[in-house]
Amino acid sequence: MLKKFEFEYETFADASALSKADQDLLEAARKATATAFAPYSNFKVGAAAKLNSGEIIIGSNQESASYPVGICAERTLLNSIGSQYPSASIQTLAVSYEPVGKASNEPLSPCGMCRQSILDFENRYQAPIRVILAGLEGEVMIFKSGSDLLPFGFNGSILKGLK
Ligand code: THU
Repeated sequence: MLKKFEFEYETFADASALSKADQDLLEAARKATATAFAPYSNFKVGAAAKLNSGEIIIGSNQESASYPVGICAERTLLNSIGSQYPSASIQTLAVSYEPVGKASNEPLSPCGMCRQSILDFENRYQAPIRVILAGLEGEVMIFKSGSDLLPFGFNGSILKGLK
């Protein structure tokens, strides 16, 4: 049997067409690129999450001299929320980037580990996380749920009942 998987997402020519709340969150992600520690890749990534309380929390990529030890902006942010706001849920996550000396005018596509982490936090808080992706300027993409970015993702349900 052949099956088909599809999902919808929104695109906007630039941030001016977004709601004020989404514009503010994206702006926070864009500003968070300034807190990145990316001397090895020169690719600064900023992320911002709006909690259900309305609070906005930011994160950025933090690289290591031992390259694989570095961590992406999305997971810096999500793990920080998980530890500092364990009972909060995340309404929306925005991600932007600033490549030193290069243009930032198209949405960044989050890496696979970060997609897994977004899915984990959706499961943890039992709520979809909207995802806004954009560079410092230009096209903006909005996804209704992080799980759309990781079809057939591993959600841990198969682990239930194991000792
Ligand atoms: N990076 C992120 O922070 N998020 C992503 O979704 C993709 C990649 C970071 C990791 C590394 O510090 C730099 O960008 C270059 O890969």
